[in-house]
Amino acid sequence: AVAEKAGFEHFMLKEIHDQPQAYRDTLSGRLMGSYPWVYLPELKLKPKRLRQIRNVHIVACGTAYHAGLVGKQAIERWSRLPVEVDVASEYRYRQPLLTPDTLVIVVSQSGETADTLAALREARRHGAHVLAITNVVGSTAAREADDVLFTWAGPEISVASTKAYTTQLLTLYTFALHLARVRGTIADAEIASAVQALNRLPDQVASILENAEEIRSYAEEIAQHEHLFFIGRGMDYAAAQEGSLKLKEISYIHSEAYAAGELKHGTLALIEEGTPVVALVTQPELYEKTVSNIREVMARGASVFGIACENTANLAEQAGRMLLLPATHPMLTPAVSVIPLQLLAYYASVARGYDVDKPRNLAKSVTVE
Ligand code: G6P
Repeated sequence: AVAEKAGFEHFMLKEIHDQPQAYRDTLSGRLMGSYPWVYLPELKLKPKRLRQIRNVHIVACGTAYHAGLVGKQAIERWSRLPVEVDVASEYRYRQPLLTPDTLVIVVSQSGETADTLAALREARRHGAHVLAITNVVGSTAAREADDVLFTWAGPEISVASTKAYTTQLLTLYTFALHLARVRGTIADAEIASAVQALNRLPDQVASILENAEEIRSYAEEIAQHEHLFFIGRGMDYAAAQEGSLKLKEISYIHSEAYAAGELKHGTLALIEEGTPVVALVTQPELYEKTVSNIREVMARGASVFGIACENTANLAEQAGRMLLLPATHPMLTPAVSVIPLQLLAYYASVARGYDVDKPRNLAKSVTVE
């Protein structure tokens, strides 16, 4: 068993450390140094049809849903198409407005989640074009969708998803760039800068993993608490939601992810002396706003752990403690900032003595609706 885990104590830790390679494998062959930059030859949806798409629905469950929240922002920003994101168990029952010009993207590590498959079938029944983003070749989603993009994460054993999520992000980013280029809604220079930043991610993730000790000591501290908050805006809010789920799944610490600006409309009332708050501050356009939210929680006694990028560090220094991540393109920050959040959940679970790879009540793949 130790050999299967490549010397790591748990599959989850191994899979967290697999990420630099998983990023390389997922991006391999899909990025180029010059025009047209992004290359997805496996897509059956050709440019003419892609230009006819009027709206996009992203449907998924759990962690894959959180990847969809990031995908929405990337697609809307770059291709200027309206995108809705739903959890699959809600999507089917709300009579979604589907037309042949709707692109439905289902995201599923296993390609076997019952709710996601039901949504896929519903969308196809209405004539929408369905693109599956999945990690499993030959899975039901891969077979039934009109189009498939694989995430090349390799097998994911731990119930808590890590490398599947991050490779879903990368696949959504490459698709979003491709869609935008075909639709003519993105400047060449913008694609070039995003592609360069994507290419740098594997080494950046490796460098974060080399400095896991700081996260470990913070995790040991939060393991003593029963409640905490994750806050952020924009891409940081999306990443916060995944960080919060990770922590709940394996450490059983109750946490909530909040859009930082929304705190004052309710949850601020829960902040007490010593309440841990993990604040993500990676967005240059939003950091002053988030920093003012950090001040709000600190004024109520919160103990803040800030996670910032090199280019957003100055203001984030307001936080009591801060972890500095390498700078990347603002749209890509979740692919960097989620790494410390995965480690935080992992080390908190270890500190509490739980079975990290097999959390109570949860299954890797849920094949009932
Ligand atoms: C289960 C797993 C989650 C996963 C979700 C969706 O709940 O515990 O980690 O995100 O299913 O799985 P899928 O295979 O469709 O991505």
